[in-house]
Amino acid sequence: MTEIIVVTSGKGGVGKTTTSASLATGLAMAGKKVAVIDFDVGLRNLDLIMGCERRVVYDFINVVHGEATLKQALIKDKRNETLFVLAASQTRDKDALTQEGVEKVLDELAKEGFDFVVCDSPAGIEKGAHLAMYFADHAVVVVNPEVSSVRDSDRILGLLASKTRHAERGDTTVKQHLLLTRYNPVRVEAGEMLSVKDVEDILGISVVGVIPESENVLAASNSGEPVILREDSFAGQAYKDTVARILGEERPLRFTEVEKKSFLKRVFGG
Ligand SMILES: Nc1ncnc2c1ncn2[C@@H]1O[C@H](COP(=O)(O)OP(=O)(O)O)[C@@H](O)[C@H]1O
Ligand SMILES: [Mg+2]
Repeated sequence: MTEIIVVTSGKGGVGKTTTSASLATGLAMAGKKVAVIDFDVGLRNLDLIMGCERRVVYDFINVVHGEATLKQALIKDKRNETLFVLAASQTRDKDALTQEGVEKVLDELAKEGFDFVVCDSPAGIEKGAHLAMYFADHAVVVVNPEVSSVRDSDRILGLLASKTRHAERGDTTVKQHLLLTRYNPVRVEAGEMLSVKDVEDILGISVVGVIPESENVLAASNSGEPVILREDSFAGQAYKDTVARILGEERPLRFTEVEKKSFLKRVFGG
């Protein structure tokens, strides 16, 4: 069975595309057949982070409109045999996506035997975000440790509980995973940012992962490489843990406490 995961948020710029790229890559590294779709029509960001922007000929909207087949539009990832990218159109307007069109593409991916479809959503509650979440079985709600981001995710959680196919049918609920990104323990300790516990208390669900704030993220996306591939990066390792948890493994949270430097390190640096 194909599982559809939407990566969504209330506010923009919180790390959805970064997360979609690493989540899709991580699932593929675990041997799953994965498609990652960019729903952010007009922005086209995912293909850059996945490093396949020069290979985009046809996109998601071309497939929705029957101007290309799914096979023509799916771009095979250069690192993972079982990972495929469906890019967003840079030129078409947001109305080019329809619910029937999205359903057609998702059904076809299911027929092709994909294990997971990761939907990289635009921010907020506009149509593109609604379409990205409508067919979802799982939702990764990306939130930053600040009040405005948390408040806006509360609205998204409400929509997931009411405005999805599962909610309309009343068959099952969309499984919600809260992902806290750009976490900086030093700033949390200084009282400048919300803690993991604060965010969990406000939203009433526990986190599936905490991704630390890290300059590796920008460096990785500039080089067209999902940060999960960077073994030496804390953000990459935290994404690995998150993917494992989504696949059902239990792993403790890491990188959420301020690193206590030893006496020698404090004196001699490092
Ligand atoms: N863990 C992180 N540490 C540092 N910067 C990050 C992190 N996650 C995302 N960013 C940066 O935040 C910005 C927005 O990320 P992006 O994934 O495009 O967000 P969205 O898709 O939600 O708009 C980008 O510049 C990205 O490099
Ligand atoms: Mg994005």
